[in-house]
Amino acid sequence: LSEETEQMLSAYEWLTKLYHHLIKYQKDGKDGLEYLKSRGITKETLEEFQIGYAPNKRDFTAKFLTQKGYTKPMLLKSGILAGNDNNEVIDRFRGRVIFPIRNALGRTVGFGGRSLTGDGGPKYLNSSEGELFQKSKLLYNFDLAKRHIRKENEAILMEGYMDVISAYQAGVKNVVATMGTALTETQAKLLNRYVDTVIICYDGDSAGIEARYKASLLLRSIGCDVRIANLDAKEDPDSYIQQHGGEAFRERVIRTSDSYMSFFMRYQRRHFNLQVESERIEYIERILKELSMIESALEREYYIHELHKEFDLSVETLMSQLTQYDKRVP
Ligand code: CTP
Ligand code: MN
Ligand code: MN
Ligand code: MN
Ligand code: MN
Repeated sequence: LSEETEQMLSAYEWLTKLYHHLIKYQKDGKDGLEYLKSRGITKETLEEFQIGYAPNKRDFTAKFLTQKGYTKPMLLKSGILAGNDNNEVIDRFRGRVIFPIRNALGRTVGFGGRSLTGDGGPKYLNSSEGELFQKSKLLYNFDLAKRHIRKENEAILMEGYMDVISAYQAGVKNVVATMGTALTETQAKLLNRYVDTVIICYDGDSAGIEARYKASLLLRSIGCDVRIANLDAKEDPDSYIQQHGGEAFRERVIRTSDSYMSFFMRYQRRHFNLQVESERIEYIERILKELSMIESALEREYYIHELHKEFDLSVETLMSQLTQYDKRVP
């Protein structure tokens, strides 16, 4: 590591401690603490994830770190400080709960900061992208989840900070998150080094459903098995767990997650109106095409039979259509 990188890492380390101390003991951090309590986060979890609070002041952090000898250009580059319109360098995180983002080795390389109110800037503000903080190469909580992922031989992939933190707190610890952006090949390969199966557990909204599909394709393309969890439109893993608890989450969301084909059928239903005959046929064709990519004879027969039951078409007809789509060389 270059000397500058080392400096950035140590600045993040100081700041993680400072923000964490503030939220635990100081008046300046009280708003943050109240907020996390209201979201069901315990003291132990606060500790485990080193969650903190950045007070709503413009140069609190800048002062603290420059007094320690760090230079403003370096702090700017690290994503800790930000330039404003008047060419001044000020604190990037103001009045936000701070989630330290650690790399696979457990070193903090960035922050995610949640606004308490919803007004005044984006809901989440992250460290700016740079040499040190590259969202596309990181998975939130990978360092803590690693050993649980190995033990369970499964990884659960979520969207956000609070999803992972709530699941972890509820005892479901093999959880990581992409931090809101589309899963990248780097992230997928990182998971695939540890497990054969990834359970995608994204938000129940439309964005989440589309993202499930894209993530499935990517994971399958690198040889990873996927399962896809279902949540109601207004839910995400965090809201589900806060409402129903970890046991229900494990039994009714993770355990009942769909195989790729089931998910795909459910997903395609969103795009076809099955009341319309022509669309019904298109739908069946689309499913058979996808099924022709599946190698397992058992799975093929299973889903053929599902189509046979639902659409009252003979197994023979469905099979012969499937064979036509079959891309595999005999
Ligand atoms: N995200 C982000 N910037 C935003 C919005 C979202 O970086 N302006 C990332 C965060 O990592 C967030 C994730 O995308 O955790 C998922 O976004 P969303 O579902 O909107 O937020 P939640 O994680 O559900 O946040 P909360 O429960 O605190 O509202
Ligand atoms: Mn979302
Ligand atoms: Mn969400
Ligand atoms: Mn949420
Ligand atoms: Mn039958």
